[in-house]
Amino acid sequence: MSFDVSAARAQFPILSREIHGKPLIYLDSAASSQKPKAVIDAMSRAMEYSYANVHRGLHTLANETTDAYEAARESVRRLLNAGEASEIVFTKGATEGINLVASSFGLSLKAGDEIVLSEMEHHANILPWHFLRERSGIVLKFIPVTDDGRLDMDAFRALLGPQTRMVAVGHMSNVTGTVNPVAEIIAAAHVAGALTLIDGCQAVVHQKVDVRALDADFYVFSSHKLYGPTGIGALYGKAELLARLPPYQGGGEMIGTVSLDEITYADPPHRFEAGTPAILEAIGLGAAITWLEGLDREAITAHEHALYDRVKTGLNGANWLTEIGTAPGKGAIFSFNMAGAHAHDVAQILDRYGIAVRAGTHCAEPLMRRFGVTSTARASFGLYNTLAEADAFVEALTKTRTFFS
Ligand code: ALA
Repeated sequence: MSFDVSAARAQFPILSREIHGKPLIYLDSAASSQKPKAVIDAMSRAMEYSYANVHRGLHTLANETTDAYEAARESVRRLLNAGEASEIVFTKGATEGINLVASSFGLSLKAGDEIVLSEMEHHANILPWHFLRERSGIVLKFIPVTDDGRLDMDAFRALLGPQTRMVAVGHMSNVTGTVNPVAEIIAAAHVAGALTLIDGCQAVVHQKVDVRALDADFYVFSSHKLYGPTGIGALYGKAELLARLPPYQGGGEMIGTVSLDEITYADPPHRFEAGTPAILEAIGLGAAITWLEGLDREAITAHEHALYDRVKTGLNGANWLTEIGTAPGKGAIFSFNMAGAHAHDVAQILDRYGIAVRAGTHCAEPLMRRFGVTSTARASFGLYNTLAEADAFVEALTKTRTFFS
């Protein structure tokens, strides 16, 4: 197979929009990607034709919707190559997945136990562990980041020890696009007797992920970056680990039996899905995965790398622009600062050219501090971006520069 970007773009209605009279150039897919017709139609069809609550009814609509919801779980299993669909817990996103593990696994931790994170983590993979530091006296250790934006692997190994209980790191940085050597990290953590949690929010979009080949204990991602809807994501956990994990939230459909004196809990994954779940969103996520399965994922990765390379070539080493994170093999995310300009101003001027980029800390303040900046502007590419858009971005950057020089 190969990848036809024009045909793929045609699936995204929003991409025909204009912004300030210019064709939209959407370079903010790391924050949230746009949605193909397959996702929009699957969610509309469910609402128009086959919708009810799941796992609760005996009528036809309830059964059809339950089947669609569980089919979406099977789609996530395929996406991650998990062994069993019961190893996939639907969450409202990666953030909830990490909070779930930190809260439930965290109950087994005591003061002095250590969690290893990294300086490049998104706040979603810092705050839930910080809560445990405040409440239980656990110790957080951070893998330092090198000047080009990689994890310092020697320093990582030195952080591991008999007190290490969990290593929780991102697979791909949302700021720099650095792809971390997670297989190596997981293997080293296991030798030290620690579990692992991988934040796959960015990686799952840009490369094939195989949780069994990685031997990850937990892996989380969000649907809305993967061309699916907001409000849904998934936590993968090895069956034997999920079986031992206490529930995170209480409510309907996560129980075995309830009496006034005693409660027993359902088996995973339902133990962790209290209350009515995000049914339509799960169906939308399933549709996004099925849609992606019809495309050549490796060709998409190559296409996205070509977009990044085109920007770099177009800028031709411009000395008025500093890129944050230049690790070899990085993904198609270009974080930068323009000399004399605040990132927010750069983003607002680019918007006048119809170009959407994100500016700010990207929910990664420790990484900003590591690089001595308070913010960056960030262009992040999706499968629907074209080489012409990469060229237009470079041209708009060059014009934007004139405002500040
Ligand atoms: N985590 C998302 C980003 O990087 C929101 O922009």
